[in-house]
Amino acid sequence: MQVRISTDAAASIATGALVLPVFSDKQLDGIAREIDALTGGALSDVLASGEIAGKTNELALVHAKAAPFRRVALVGLGDRAKFTPHALAKYAGTAVRSLGKRNVESLAFVLPAEADADVRLATSAIAEGAIAATLDTTTYRTEPDNPVVTNDVAILAGGFDRTALDAGVRRGSVLGEAINAARLMALAPGNDMTPTDLAERARQLGAEAGLEVDVLDEARMLAKGMGSLLGVSRGSDEPATLSVMTYRGDPESSEILALVGKGLTFDTGGISLKPPADMHEMKYDMSGGAGVIAAMYAIGKLKPKINVIGVIPSSENMPGPKAVKPGDILRAMNGKTIEVINTDAEGRLILADALCYARELGATKLVDCATLTGAVVIALGHAASAVVSNDDGFAATFLDVVKDVGERYWRLPLYDDWDKQIKSDIADLKNTGGRPAGTLTAAAFLQNFVDGLPWVHLDIAGTAYLDTGSSSMAKGPTGTPVRAFLALAERLAG
Ligand code: BES
Ligand code: MN
Ligand code: ZN
Repeated sequence: MQVRISTDAAASIATGALVLPVFSDKQLDGIAREIDALTGGALSDVLASGEIAGKTNELALVHAKAAPFRRVALVGLGDRAKFTPHALAKYAGTAVRSLGKRNVESLAFVLPAEADADVRLATSAIAEGAIAATLDTTTYRTEPDNPVVTNDVAILAGGFDRTALDAGVRRGSVLGEAINAARLMALAPGNDMTPTDLAERARQLGAEAGLEVDVLDEARMLAKGMGSLLGVSRGSDEPATLSVMTYRGDPESSEILALVGKGLTFDTGGISLKPPADMHEMKYDMSGGAGVIAAMYAIGKLKPKINVIGVIPSSENMPGPKAVKPGDILRAMNGKTIEVINTDAEGRLILADALCYARELGATKLVDCATLTGAVVIALGHAASAVVSNDDGFAATFLDVVKDVGERYWRLPLYDDWDKQIKSDIADLKNTGGRPAGTLTAAAFLQNFVDGLPWVHLDIAGTAYLDTGSSSMAKGPTGTPVRAFLALAERLAG
């Protein structure tokens, strides 16, 4: 899809549909009033009829046969007083998904006057939402399922600042493509997304964005003493990979932000085998890794003034004949010994070595993301990702950055109580701490590998994929945390 700025007037633009915002106060603003007059009051009629109340996710369609725009779509934006720039991602996505599935190939979006608060982010949100709405999640079918055909999106410049509009289109287009790339990786089944395949995606997307990419094989991991990651991979015939993507946007600085993502391409649980019912969902267990790869692509394309490395440990978790067994003891890269109580708590094992390696590469700040625990779904459902941190300042920055990125995050505490739960009788650590506070004992485990660096851990097990679609996005993988990671890199770049 191509997203562009158009300086055409709304009344004279040739397009499949002119998209206009409507808040829940149902006021027709400047351009909408003009279009209402041109269409003989059709918009006022629709609003008066109660067909649309101006809530988010709503769309009402009016045909305008004689006008250069063939249709007018009113799309809800909710409460005007609560408007934020990112609300426009849903606005655009709702129009693209609804009209794009009904054969409308081109759309022209009108920005609400409220977009003036941040024109760049408002425009970025339109492009991001429009592109994310196009993703076909039925690519494995012989016939695609009612695809979105919209391929041309114009955003009307109106009286807004042109530089900000252009910067926004560029940002949102790159971000939208990155989100979709992450979603396609997560969607791919385990037989089509092995650790080798995931590393290949890191190589390809890294090359497209001008990044340096290094993929460690098992021999190099062994030489580095990554016994924890290699322990997980032992049960599988597929070799583990550890991809490192490097972006140097600020060569004068020695600060490096590391993004570390769990790339577990299929999690059977290993010898502590999972029950069959929902096991197929564990193809999404590489969503954190996919998110890091896609975020690094976006960062490489958009070039904020900051140094960032992406580190993606990837393995299968299989119960093969050489698999790690409950009770086995592994030694991580930093020398710490880990008693494996449950082979299904494998994510923390591959992240342990990846965090150590990120530090060896010079990271000064660490963020990891992982579909780490079922417990986070009990705590927060599918409404938010958990944030756990050892650094109040860094956590506060992260939470401020993500206030309006279209992904929700909620901080949970890192009490030292959890350390007791993961103390082993015979080794330094054990890899599970029992049922209580499962998300937080997992975080406490990871803390042993960050060596006191400012660190934010994100548990995305409840948010990486959704069983229900929305008016603006297909069901399945969501692209979390790509939006947050790009915004964080931009903020730390200043
Ligand atoms: N990948 C799973 C976590 C998960 C569960 C993600 C449900 C998405 C949906 C992780 O590897 C896992 O199995 N965690 C265990 C840990 C337990 C054995 C301590 C869990 O949460 O049950
Ligand atoms: Mn597991
Ligand atoms: Zn897992």
